[in-house]
Amino acid sequence: MKVLVIGSGGREHALVWKIAHSPLVEEVFCAPGNPGIGRIATNVPLSVDDLPGLLAFAKNEGVGLTVVGPELPLSLGIVDLFEEHGMKIFGARRNAALIEASKAFSKDLMKKYHVPTAFYEVFTEIDPAVAFIEKHGAPIVVKADGLAAGKGVIVALTEEEAIAAVREMLSGNAFGDAGSRVVIEEFLRGEEASFLAFTDGRNIIPLASAQDHKAVYDGDTGPNTGGMGAYSPAPVVTPAIHAKAMDEVMRRTVDGMAAEGRPYRGVLYAGLMIDGESVKTLEFNARFGDPECQPLLMRMKSDIVPILMAVADGDISGMEIEWHDMAAVCVVMASGGYPGDYRKGDEISGLDAAAAIDDLFVFHAGTAEKGGRFVTSGGRVLGVTGRGGTVADAIAKAYEGVESISWEGVHYRRDIGKKALGR
Ligand code: AMP
Ligand code: GLY
Repeated sequence: MKVLVIGSGGREHALVWKIAHSPLVEEVFCAPGNPGIGRIATNVPLSVDDLPGLLAFAKNEGVGLTVVGPELPLSLGIVDLFEEHGMKIFGARRNAALIEASKAFSKDLMKKYHVPTAFYEVFTEIDPAVAFIEKHGAPIVVKADGLAAGKGVIVALTEEEAIAAVREMLSGNAFGDAGSRVVIEEFLRGEEASFLAFTDGRNIIPLASAQDHKAVYDGDTGPNTGGMGAYSPAPVVTPAIHAKAMDEVMRRTVDGMAAEGRPYRGVLYAGLMIDGESVKTLEFNARFGDPECQPLLMRMKSDIVPILMAVADGDISGMEIEWHDMAAVCVVMASGGYPGDYRKGDEISGLDAAAAIDDLFVFHAGTAEKGGRFVTSGGRVLGVTGRGGTVADAIAKAYEGVESISWEGVHYRRDIGKKALGR
């Protein structure tokens, strides 16, 4: 079978890598892909929002399964389009992807179906939003309603900061349309975890636990990014927390979406805040996390293709996923300046040395090829992912890889996985 993966980041490199291992697969394409992906699959120069182009390509090539990485094509309705044309595709339909594309929708859904989440209200006007902030005080969290590449959330430590964020968003200066509605919510304390599950709209198969590191600097300081590193398993997800996440978050959400006439099929990602025995949902994503996907897929023992096919077919009952009894840690190496304006075109050295290390894989996210050499071309450049018997071993492995790679201005966190060691 031929498989087409849509996207160009580290997550898609990991998906392509895992899918290419399947004995069911003869060829993997990736649109648009990246130079790292190009080493193990065929890149197709089509952008993720070129829905007609992607459909035509899949039809012409006789692609048996298309797998969607990022949220944009999902929210544009790529799954609906492919299904209308009888093409098999893994991902959430447009009306289900709204769970990520609109924070107001997802908060209202959680409220209606009793999915534990922070207390909140939705605003389109500045004055009532300011009154809400003054009533509840800081710290308080302001979120742009629409898609903002993980950057539309302001955790405000003062009322002034929250009010400034509301003014920026509602005046349309920040995030354009995505900020024309805001969610303002209670600040939650605790430790975050990423809880992902495959679902066909009824049955739910959880993936292994994972934890992301959203802040740019060590010790969770500095502005939020798309994610600076991730590991799996995450010991903060104890068996009791896992059971709660399944019963109170996943089950209620999947059933709620079905009841709303928006059956959710695909991978559902819940960002959880865990505080002692309390589990609250910060957000939902309609896709694999990036970088969580990298360590998760390095730990997945089962062939991923049968489960992706079963989700696309709408029936995963009776299926199981096996995991390697190892830990995996992904450290993101970023361009100088990221998450602000960042440098591009810096030559990357040390990739061959890293490739020679066992149980290590370097997933490309923002690279380009220039004269046969790899250069930086994005904010998050590489996801250096190591595997080991314990989280400590996997951390050591990942940083062994990181230390062999360099370029001008590179930066990365030095404490990825540290929280797991404290437990
Ligand atoms: P979101 O995109 O909604 O997950 O928000 C991005 C990040 O902002 C989360 O991963 C948290 O680190 C932080 N955050 C979001 N909502 C809250 C909240 N209610 N309380 C504390 N931190 C939050
Ligand atoms: N790593 C967080 C996300 O994919 O949204």
